[in-house]
Amino acid sequence: MKEKISELLARFEADLASGKSPDELRVAYLGKNGATAELMKELRNVPVDRKKEAGQMINGLKTKLEEEIGARARALEEEALQKAISSARRYNPTLPANNDLGSYHPITLVQREVEDVFASMGFTVEEYPEIVDDYHCFEALNIPKHHPARDMQDTYYLENGQLLKTHTSAAQNYIMKKYGAPLRAIFPSRCFRNEAIDACHENTFFQMEGMMIDRDISISNLIYFMKTMLSEVFGQDLRVRLRPGFFPFVEPGFELDISCLICGGEGCPSCKNSGWLELCPCGMIHPNVLTAGGIDPEEYTGFAFGLGLTRLAMMKYGVKDIRDFNAGSLRTLSQFKSR
Ligand code: DAH
Repeated sequence: MKEKISELLARFEADLASGKSPDELRVAYLGKNGATAELMKELRNVPVDRKKEAGQMINGLKTKLEEEIGARARALEEEALQKAISSARRYNPTLPANNDLGSYHPITLVQREVEDVFASMGFTVEEYPEIVDDYHCFEALNIPKHHPARDMQDTYYLENGQLLKTHTSAAQNYIMKKYGAPLRAIFPSRCFRNEAIDACHENTFFQMEGMMIDRDISISNLIYFMKTMLSEVFGQDLRVRLRPGFFPFVEPGFELDISCLICGGEGCPSCKNSGWLELCPCGMIHPNVLTAGGIDPEEYTGFAFGLGLTRLAMMKYGVKDIRDFNAGSLRTLSQFKSR
């Protein structure tokens, strides 16, 4: 029996080495009609006093075969897994870097240009969060609860009671308290409104707010600064017009329009066929707003404006559809590479 067992073991090792699959080996050695089953049958011919020992030897053999076949199966599985992992890793980290430079977003370009012009006129550039509270976005701007002006701004409210900034004016109160008077500051930001989107409306857009507060500031200061800035940005003397406009935080309030640079004033979808683009609401800061900001309206006056940076970028670069700005298309953005 011993001899038969070592013979069988030798055959098994040879089969294992020749690359037979675990299934084939199982059938050939451990199956119902396999080699060990044959050995079991031969137990019949073993003399009674040696039967027990022979039986134990066969069982030991079976256990050894099972272990070896199992180990082979696990090794094959691991090999298949590693193969799958290495074929999934398609990129090669040792390749040289792609030297193709990215580009600034057109709104960033316009924003920086406006910042430069205002900085050269003594304005500081301020930051303020995009998530704000009701007080800063409305209350401090002379828009109390239930004021109809709140309906003009389709606000996204958050579950914690805060909201997404609907306009850059939300930073006015903070900046007045930060510096006191006199002050000159601009504060660009992304703003959000729950608007239906079309060629000239987006729910996410950029504004640049500005404030100048000092003794004896008047509407002529406002007109001077706006005209200077816009002429610089467009590199030409622009046609502008002021219309009366209502905003609770200014008195008087205006709409500053510029002639549409896309159609030259003839009318196109971007200017709603009017030839004018509503670019910049502005006005003289309301005494209540100055007071809320800790500034005495008897002593100081000031102007404020809320420039539509997105609109400005549309006009400057001839972008006809506002949706292009948020589309993330590399074909669009790569056109701004050299700037
Ligand atoms: N915050 C206003 C809006 O987005 C725009 C605005 C109007 C800002 C008049 C001003 C201003 O500073 O004086 O609807």
